[in-house]
Amino acid sequence: MSEKFVLATHNPGKLREMREILSELGVEVVSPEELGLTVDVEETGETFAENAMLKAKAVCAQTGLPAIGDDSGLCVDVLNGGPGVYSARYGGESISDGERNKLLLESVKGQGRRDAHFTCAIACAFPNGDTLTAEEQCNGVISYIPMGTGGFGYDPVFNYPPKLKTFAQMTPEEKSEVSHRGKALRAFAETLGAYLSERAWNELEAEKQRAEEETAPETPETAENPEAAAEITETAPEAAAETPEAVPKKRPKTVPHRPNYSQKKKKRKRHH
Ligand code: IMP
Repeated sequence: MSEKFVLATHNPGKLREMREILSELGVEVVSPEELGLTVDVEETGETFAENAMLKAKAVCAQTGLPAIGDDSGLCVDVLNGGPGVYSARYGGESISDGERNKLLLESVKGQGRRDAHFTCAIACAFPNGDTLTAEEQCNGVISYIPMGTGGFGYDPVFNYPPKLKTFAQMTPEEKSEVSHRGKALRAFAETLGAYLSERAWNELEAEKQRAEEETAPETPETAENPEAAAEITETAPEAAAETPEAVPKKRPKTVPHRPNYSQKKKKRKRHH
C-alpha cells in the first residue's frame, strides 16, 4: 500500500512535478485541497531551507501526515544575494512578473558582473519528528533584456550560459534537467527513497526480534517452573545449554540488506 504525503503548496504545477517523481517510490502525493485544508504558512525564515521546513512542519502538524514543503528564489551577486527569500515579493506583492523583471534589470544596470543563481530547498517532516532536506542551485547570469515567453517569474531574465538561452526560452523538460527545482526534486527523491528503505529494514528487524523473543524457549535459569526447566535439561541438554544469547544471530534470507545510507551530497541531510 502506498504511503500518503501532503505537499504544502497550492501550486498545481509543483504538485504534478512532485507526484511524477515520487510515484516511483510508491508514494502518493496529495494536495491540501484534496484534504479540505488551506495552507497559509508565513515565510518568516532567513533561508530557503528554513522556509521549506516551516511549511513542512506546519502541514505535518495540521494533518498528522508526512508533509513536504519547498521554497525557491533568485539570488543576484551584485544585490548581495537579493531578492533571495523575498523573490516573490520583490518590488511589492501587487506588481506583475514583467514589472518585477524590469525592476531587477534596472537594479543591476551598470553594476558590472551579472552573476546570479536560483536556489530550491525541499523539506519533509514526519509525524515522528524525523526530517529530510534537499537543496540545489542553478548558476546563470542576468540578461540585458527579457527573452523568451515560457516559464514564469524571473525566467525571461535568467540566462543559462551552457545553453545560451534564458529559462523562458527552454522547453519545460529542458529547464527541468538543469534547473534548481529539477535538481532539488531528484535529490529529494533519492534521499526519501533511502530513508524509506532504511525505515522498512528497521521495521523488519524489529519484527524479527519480536518473533525471536516470542518463540525462544525459556532457559532453566529463567524458567519460573523448575520442573519444566529440569525436563528441558534432561530431554535436550545441549539445546538447553545454548541460551538464545549464545546463538549467533543470522539474518534470514527474506530480510533485505541494510541500505547503504551514505549521503552523497552534503546538502542532502537527514535529521532525527
Ligand atoms: P516559491 O518557491 O514558489 O515561493 O517561489 C518564489 C519566487 O521565486 C517565485 O515567485 C519566483 O518569482 C521565483 N522563482 C522561483 N523559482 C523560479 C523559476 O524556476 N523561475 C523563475 N522564477 C522563479
